[in-house]
Amino acid sequence: MEPLLRLEHVDKSFPGVRALVDVKFDVRPGEVHALLGENGAGKSTLIKIISGVYKADAGKVFVEGQRVEFDNPREAQASGIATIYQELLLYPELSVAENIYMGHAPRKRFGLIDWPGMRRQAIEILSSLDIHDIDVTRNVGTLTVGNRQRVEIAKALSQNARLLIMDEPTAALTEADVQRLFSLVRLLRERGVAIIYISHRLDEVFMLADRVTVLRDGQYVGTRGVEETREDDLISMMVGRTIDDLFPKLDTTVGDIVLELRNLSRRPLTNNVNLTLRAGEIVGLAGLVGSGRSELAQTVFGFTPADSGEILLDGGQVQIRHPGHAMNLGIAYVPEDRGTQGLIRQMTVRENVSLAILKTLAKGSIVNRHAERALAQRSIAQLNIRAYSTEQIVNKLSGGNQQKVVVSKWLASKPRVLIMDEPTRGIDVGAKAEIHRLMSELAQQGMAILMISSELPEVLGMSDRILVMRQGQLVAEFDRDEATQENVATAMMSEAVTEVQA
Ligand SMILES: Nc1ncnc2c1ncn2[C@@H]1O[C@H](COP(=O)(O)OP(=O)(O)OP(=O)(O)O)[C@@H](O)[C@H]1O
Ligand SMILES: [Mg+2]
Repeated sequence: MEPLLRLEHVDKSFPGVRALVDVKFDVRPGEVHALLGENGAGKSTLIKIISGVYKADAGKVFVEGQRVEFDNPREAQASGIATIYQELLLYPELSVAENIYMGHAPRKRFGLIDWPGMRRQAIEILSSLDIHDIDVTRNVGTLTVGNRQRVEIAKALSQNARLLIMDEPTAALTEADVQRLFSLVRLLRERGVAIIYISHRLDEVFMLADRVTVLRDGQYVGTRGVEETREDDLISMMVGRTIDDLFPKLDTTVGDIVLELRNLSRRPLTNNVNLTLRAGEIVGLAGLVGSGRSELAQTVFGFTPADSGEILLDGGQVQIRHPGHAMNLGIAYVPEDRGTQGLIRQMTVRENVSLAILKTLAKGSIVNRHAERALAQRSIAQLNIRAYSTEQIVNKLSGGNQQKVVVSKWLASKPRVLIMDEPTRGIDVGAKAEIHRLMSELAQQGMAILMISSELPEVLGMSDRILVMRQGQLVAEFDRDEATQENVATAMMSEAVTEVQA
């Protein structure tokens, strides 16, 4: 079958980086083609070339056998190529219908926008995708991330896309939204739409994709049919070696209680939480998205101070009214939404990594540049951050590498209590294993770690103890050796309270 899209010998460089070198790629109508590779491998750059955001330095792009050269995203759209980027691009202040028809609204005579017509067509397009629960008059800013994404997809299809490109679409979705996205993708595939799907979750690739192409360091490694490929093969294609242990949990001696929460509440999202965290311990906090896990973390860290209950640190009661307080007390928090909470994107890798420990690096108001640079260099090496130097602006790093910078920043602060919210989401397998190894070492050195994760294998693989949260409350607790996928998942979902922690 003639591919819908074909790329040959594509090269693309940025100052100091060869992002793509002699890459080939093709996608067929009615196929989900996964694009895999480590953070910084060139995936987003490749799709930005396909969608007209960047121009390739060399190489050819064909749509249905015809050579194309897009000067801008509009030209790519006109050829039926629609892209959902890593960062969603909707206008929060506008309604769903306006977003869908932005730039190509149905018009009446004299060029006036046909508002009722636009709403009607927006409803039609959503229902053609089996979406009946989104009110098209609502502002997009008030929708959940999952629904915003469905609106983006509807927008793409309102322009008759034949190729839909999705860059890590599930990174910020709840489990239910992931399922809905998958049904939508399958529906589109049946209708003959070609789909390019980028993800770091290999399980998704196996559930959804027909073929998979792997990039490494900007180079084409290979294309395989998903049915005849095993996970190990994909991992070694991506990282150039095998990874024996994704969860290198070390045995630790668990020490005294460092952090204790007593009846902690910040209503309505967290309710009467009792929890202890000991030195040397990694406690996994499982739960569905929306169960209150991040809210609990933000309350402990002082973003949203508690309205009742107590926080004790080393047995003494503390008041945490803002994040500065928490940091002074030795509590660090790696947020889930690293884009907005974790980084100053206009600053360099060096400046970002040292942000949380400026005080220790500075004498008076003079920061010790040398120490700063050494620290950043260490982080770059440790987590394999793809940056050409410590002086690279964080904004120019690939998505996953930006996340590694946030993780480094908090690790550098050597906290006593480290709260990590989805620590490896969007991070490639190699670096993931590395972050796990670091967590484990830090615990062994006596750090107390609370890890929020929606990936059950990660929770089971890394935690000494697992707590389950539902509707703002802790509803179950498991020891490492008694926890299984089944009993944790059941506790996450079931209505019956299985085992309330005393
Ligand atoms: N606008 C830019 N300016 C400079 N360098 C860039 C720019 N965009 C990407 N790069 C560099 O090109 C390389 C490839 O980045 P790209 O974003 O394509 O990676 P990726 O495979 O999408 O990674 P991730 O999984 O982390 O999203 C990286 O080294 C990145 O730092
Ligand atoms: Mg990317």
